Amino acid sequence: MSESPLLIEDTGAVRRITVNRPDKLNALNLATLDALAEAFEAAGRDDAVRAVVLTGAGAKAFVAGADIAEMNTLTPVQGRDFSQRGQRMMRAVETLSKPVVAMVNGFALGGGLELAMCCHLRVAADTAKVGQPEVNLGLIPGFGGTQRLLRLAGRAATLELCLVGAPIDANRARELGIVNRVVPAAELETETMKLAQQLAASAPLAMRGVLDCVNFGGECSIEEGLAYETAQFGLMFSTTDMREGTGAFLERRKPAFTGS
Ligand code: COA
Repeated sequence: MSESPLLIEDTGAVRRITVNRPDKLNALNLATLDALAEAFEAAGRDDAVRAVVLTGAGAKAFVAGADIAEMNTLTPVQGRDFSQRGQRMMRAVETLSKPVVAMVNGFALGGGLELAMCCHLRVAADTAKVGQPEVNLGLIPGFGGTQRLLRLAGRAATLELCLVGAPIDANRARELGIVNRVVPAAELETETMKLAQQLAASAPLAMRGVLDCVNFGGECSIEEGLAYETAQFGLMFSTTDMREGTGAFLERRKPAFTGS
């Protein structure tokens, strides 16, 4: 059996998934796309996992893109399948019912930025660089880059990144809304894990409610989105966690959420 392209480890309720091909700057080949799809499905199924951190092995790259060597020989039909496989996996990450934080430790280029963008939050090292350089290869983004970047950072930033193809640094990415937080590289792991632990300690059904509302609301009219939010809000009153959270506030103590 060939070695897994991922490392998976749990710290409390936080699952850390690391793309582990550092000699190829963690480039996404087919085997890695499939392993990520399986890993996120497993994280979604496991009730003990309440938040996920996604990162790349080594100090240099989060993920430097889809695997260019593998793409070089693809036929048009295989190219379409490659795009669909990547898009399906990333959509599954985006619609996961628990929060996923991308820990962007270096280059997040092409498929790497696309992977970071399907996560719910992005914390970047100040040394990280992100971009959609596919045009330099005679290609365009194929794992949702044109669509997620448009929704995340707007038309001007999307056209600049995708047409010019030059990477930008982490602080510029934060200004454009592409990453949420930029921290010194030496503090990336501590800060990201702190954030993930905070999310993992929150009420799981409330996390899920927010994720569902944002995923659904981003794709429909304001009226439909508001109606959906109301329905989700009402649903929260059926949870033990809502009684616990409001009760703990009134009793001036820390809540203990169970996900029920
Ligand atoms: N696919 C496949 N292999 C990749 C890769 C990718 N997207 N990105 C890097 N690698 C490989 C290199 O081929 C090299 O492998 P080798 O040592 O077997 O030759 C190894 O990773 C190290 O990369 P290298 O280019 O030597 O590092 P660098 O420090 O000189 O440059 C980058 C770093 C990120 C600027 C450069 O690797 C790069 O431009 N990568 C491609 C980025 C890209 O276009 N991504 C979008 C793909 S659609």
